[in-house]
Amino acid sequence: MTDLLLGQVLSFTGDPFVDGPSAARVLTQGAVAIEQGRIAALGEAATLRARYPQARLHDHGRKLISAGFIDAHVHYPQTAIIASWGKRLIDWLNTYTFPEEMRFADPAYAQEIADRYLDLVLARGTTTVCSYATIHPASVDAIFTAARSRGMRIFAGKTCMDRNAPEGLRDTAQSAYDDSKRLLEKWHGKDRLSYVVTPRFSPTSTPEQLAALGALWREYPDCLMQTHLSEQTDEIAWVQSLFPQSRDYLDTYEAQGLLREGAVYGHAIHLTERERARLIEAGASLVHCPTSNTFIGSGLFDMTLAKHLRVGLATDTGGGSNFSMLPTMAAAYEVAQLRGQSLHPAQLWWLATQGSARALRCDDQIGNLAPGMEADLIVVDLASTPAIEQATRRATDLWQALFPTIMMGDDRAITEVWVAGRRRGA
Ligand code: GUN
Ligand code: ZN
Repeated sequence: MTDLLLGQVLSFTGDPFVDGPSAARVLTQGAVAIEQGRIAALGEAATLRARYPQARLHDHGRKLISAGFIDAHVHYPQTAIIASWGKRLIDWLNTYTFPEEMRFADPAYAQEIADRYLDLVLARGTTTVCSYATIHPASVDAIFTAARSRGMRIFAGKTCMDRNAPEGLRDTAQSAYDDSKRLLEKWHGKDRLSYVVTPRFSPTSTPEQLAALGALWREYPDCLMQTHLSEQTDEIAWVQSLFPQSRDYLDTYEAQGLLREGAVYGHAIHLTERERARLIEAGASLVHCPTSNTFIGSGLFDMTLAKHLRVGLATDTGGGSNFSMLPTMAAAYEVAQLRGQSLHPAQLWWLATQGSARALRCDDQIGNLAPGMEADLIVVDLASTPAIEQATRRATDLWQALFPTIMMGDDRAITEVWVAGRRRGA
């Protein structure tokens, strides 16, 4: 059976950071045909209606049909502590994050939060996330089980920490290696699930643990590796004192085999010249977490890096202050404005879809609408509130019509979500 979605269809034929807004393709009266979980065709509504006369029709009028959002850096275990008041990074970890992550020693609690988290993000149009779990192997089982039952493509890994974390949240170099390997073999490549090697960040891993995870990553070169890099200046000073031999923060990873293509670094705000050059040379990915970087007071990411390496966009739940990629795009816009750059709506939308997919090296599968791609898509109401509707009345093109939703939209803008070709309630 073919499903045919009709509406304004937005897809990308290039990278708007390189090619400008012409990298986007807008079909005002467009259609997307879905068959067996994949996009079968994309084109003018009239053409596809003639080609698929038997198809089940879903007419969305002027609403926008896009690839689902991809949130490239989240901590699903921090769902319940999102929007906690008044701390900066290290204090925030000790006060809110670590006590909450301790609760994941209970697999039933992990399952409850994993299910709650994926329902929250799906309702906001996010169809893929790349998540940290906790130190507990069962927290990885929980998020993969929850994703599998929803048919989602997701990335996740056991967070490894063998120092500077409370009793109960520490593993060792050896157990981190053993547990990660077991989880990787159990889940990686099953259905739409991908395991990610996940040292939390250099302050909570000894060089021995980083080396063990570097060795594991070498054994499974097609996996991603995720960690944090240069988020706050206090953190960077701490890393310098913990790793006196290292040239800089990136070197603490590089020295242990944790820098190459497939490395996904969250935040990456306060980079040295050497770090920037090495990240570009190595083909690493960076993830911009703008609501987190303002909420925890970390700093302003340099978006000009998007011209030189893969940059994804993320909420960083629960350091970020919102589960939705719409306010995350809005924050990316505002942060760039503070650095003197005005991001075009095409660039913002691309970051939340194709850019994140590229950063996670799955852009041949998800993050865009094109024949053969997996059918993860969303339907977006461009007039979801009276305030947004009135701001779009004089719009003369899609970008003017879309920008108020980027800046002011929330879950009310997401009217339908499709995961692997199946419609889910939004
Ligand atoms: N650095 C190390 N762990 C974390 C975390 O959980 N959240 C954020 N924002 N930064 C981190
Ligand atoms: Zn993070």
